Amino acid sequence: MAIKPRWADAEAIQEAAQLLRQGRLVAFPTETVYGLGADASNAEAVAGIFAAKSRPADHPLIVHLADAAMMPGWAEEIPDMAWQLAERFWPGPLAMVLRKKASVPLAVTGGQDTVALRVPNHPVALQLLRAFGGGLAAPSANRFCRISPTQAAHVAEELGDAVAMILDGGACQVGVESTIVDLSGPQPRLLRPGQISVAALEAVLRQPLVLPEAVASEIRAPGMMAVHYAPQTVALLCPVEQLQARAQTLLADGQRLGVLAYAQTLPAHPHLQVLAMPATADGYAQALYASLRELDGWQLDRILVEQPPQTEAWRAVNDRLGKATLAVA
Ligand code: TXA
Ligand code: MG
Repeated sequence: MAIKPRWADAEAIQEAAQLLRQGRLVAFPTETVYGLGADASNAEAVAGIFAAKSRPADHPLIVHLADAAMMPGWAEEIPDMAWQLAERFWPGPLAMVLRKKASVPLAVTGGQDTVALRVPNHPVALQLLRAFGGGLAAPSANRFCRISPTQAAHVAEELGDAVAMILDGGACQVGVESTIVDLSGPQPRLLRPGQISVAALEAVLRQPLVLPEAVASEIRAPGMMAVHYAPQTVALLCPVEQLQARAQTLLADGQRLGVLAYAQTLPAHPHLQVLAMPATADGYAQALYASLRELDGWQLDRILVEQPPQTEAWRAVNDRLGKATLAVA
């Protein structure tokens, strides 16, 4: 039976910690997106995450900690850079990939010898982590390849029948997943852009980050295409100057159309639903997944996403849009 979210008061958090100690799954809010948590030191509990999400076993999970001081329990050969980034950005939307300790279950790391760590900045996540006392493996609480949840109700829709408890801590502030930096190699690398910018990271690192585009040919080998976190309705990413004409063509063709609009307004049409997005990158990111979910729920034939600015401030938004949509040729 599908369970309903429970408001995350002190009592609910204690119960959630108890369930986690028993090896059960608990969904909880973070500042980025909702996570599907399990005891990271319990390989069986972690296996439950993969089963609930239908996630392939070689996709590694992020281990969430209450405090940077817990890093040595999970990672070894921790470079100074990691402590500096932790000092500046934790708790916050940053995950760091480090060399894992032998004790970290391979189920958590997808068989790799590295582990991703993060201290989230959400009062409920931090209270839960403190009550639980250990590390929580927690991917986004959505089924594999679906849109990440930014509200407790989204989790209930997707995983309500697969978790022991869903803690409700309101809508997520950041709205897109954490920035991931890999510190396990010779040079720090950006693996996933997020709210914390490249410039902010480099200011602390005092050296350039290797960016995904620099290694794109290496990791995007044939058959290893970036996973698409897509709505079920086909969504097309559309340059600003093509939006009006595209919309007109699809509407003339009798299609029911949704538009995620950044700057443009479109003439009203009975088959057209427009969602106007916030003008700032942070505001847009916060609203993005809920907006895609809303459009997806309207049973439309197509979604057109008006492309926002192609600047550094919009890196995380453009990355997620690239994964949620097909580019218009
Ligand atoms: O904001 C977030 O990080 C959210 C919240 C819940 O904290 N979690 C999240 O988890 O986005 P997930 O599982 O949806 O994404 C984890 C990402 C994946 O892209 C995975 O490949 C990467 O982290 N990752 C985890 N461990 C890694 C490792 N050892 N090496 C490289 N990448 C790793
Ligand atoms: Mg995810």
